[in-house]
Amino acid sequence: MEITKSHGLRGELTIPGDKSISHRGIMLGAISRGTTEITNFLQGADCLSTISCFQKMGIPIENEGSLVRIQGKGLHGLKEPQSVLDAGNSGTTTRLLSGILCGQDFSCQLTGDDSIQKRPMERIMKPLRQMGADIRSLKDNGCAPLSITGKKLHAVDYHSPVASAQVKSCVLLAGLYADGPTSVTEPFLSRDHTERMLAYFGAKVSSLETTATVQPEPLLEGRQIEVPGDISSAAYFIAAALIVPGSEVLLKNVGVNPTRDGILRVCRQMGADITLLNERLVSQEPVADLLIRSSDLKGTVIEGSLIPTLIDEIPIIAILAAFADGVTTIRDAGELKVKESNRIDAMVTELSKMGADIQGTDDGMIIKGGAPLTGAAIDSRLDHRIAMSFATAGLAAAGTTTILQDSCIAISYPDFFRDLSSLQI
Ligand code: S3P
Repeated sequence: MEITKSHGLRGELTIPGDKSISHRGIMLGAISRGTTEITNFLQGADCLSTISCFQKMGIPIENEGSLVRIQGKGLHGLKEPQSVLDAGNSGTTTRLLSGILCGQDFSCQLTGDDSIQKRPMERIMKPLRQMGADIRSLKDNGCAPLSITGKKLHAVDYHSPVASAQVKSCVLLAGLYADGPTSVTEPFLSRDHTERMLAYFGAKVSSLETTATVQPEPLLEGRQIEVPGDISSAAYFIAAALIVPGSEVLLKNVGVNPTRDGILRVCRQMGADITLLNERLVSQEPVADLLIRSSDLKGTVIEGSLIPTLIDEIPIIAILAAFADGVTTIRDAGELKVKESNRIDAMVTELSKMGADIQGTDDGMIIKGGAPLTGAAIDSRLDHRIAMSFATAGLAAAGTTTILQDSCIAISYPDFFRDLSSLQI
């Protein structure tokens, strides 16, 4: 895709469903009793991978686009799959599903694409083994393909060294099959969609500071879920409206869960004009419409407990920082190195190509904003968030920005370019 300088973004856009919540809706629907209906389900490739894994385990799932219907079979109703489960590019599918698979009464294998086969799985294998699970990396390199044989699981009180919702959710889902209450404590609070949705389906879950606890063998019952718009997808339009002069955009139906809204807090810290309208609760998740007007931004510091609340938005925040006055420092974000690509390397290399002053560190980056950016050929590294971040940067850069291998955007936002062009004046 080729992007040129925009003359302004105007109008309103309804943001597609949240990826994290869509995954969880399928998973909990499948292990509940009765029918779960999900509206505004994200039709991204990652969430479709989750659907196909559960279909392979005998769960009837109808995907009619705007509505997904799951005939849940209960906690112990999954069937042994007849072929390898394929999580595609999805870390959420791989890690959360592993937690469920460890408590079943069958064996299976779980794998994914080249990127998934390089991502660290030891972080889930360690707590799962403490619970008595039989989970192995087939290549013995701590990555997928994984081989899992279901076992009777023991309760644990796991202290995770990383603030990761995927690790937390994996252990909590395994905890549904354990012999007592299972707790996970993390260094900082990560997204809490699993805890909220488990409670919505009827599980007993409690949270105290950064510890979440689940009681085993709940009676989960099918539910109606309306998925809020994904703030991680909204982030590109928030950024575009801020950096392209003369813009005013209304983003409707955006999830603003406080464990996900770090991008809003950082934008405000940087001087952004963002107003939350029509705040409400939808399927236990806070939702709002966001009104964004172009703003003069200034540099900021992003670190500590803020990091998990905006971990997927750091690439687009780096773009904002390049257009801001002064220095932006991002630290405590070493996790970026093990996402769909090494996002520290990707941002440093590709933003430098456009003329930005950016330096990588071991756990983040330092960006001196204000240098004029010029379009370049951007290697997306098949990472959807890198591709969309640079497409956004191209709207405010001189010349033409070309995003190579932009089809990866379908992982989380199949209609991204259509929606972007709908806002251009
Ligand atoms: C996710 C958690 C985050 C995030 C990912 C989705 C989830 O990963 O980066 O895109 O749905 O739980 P980590 O838990 O590995 O930080």
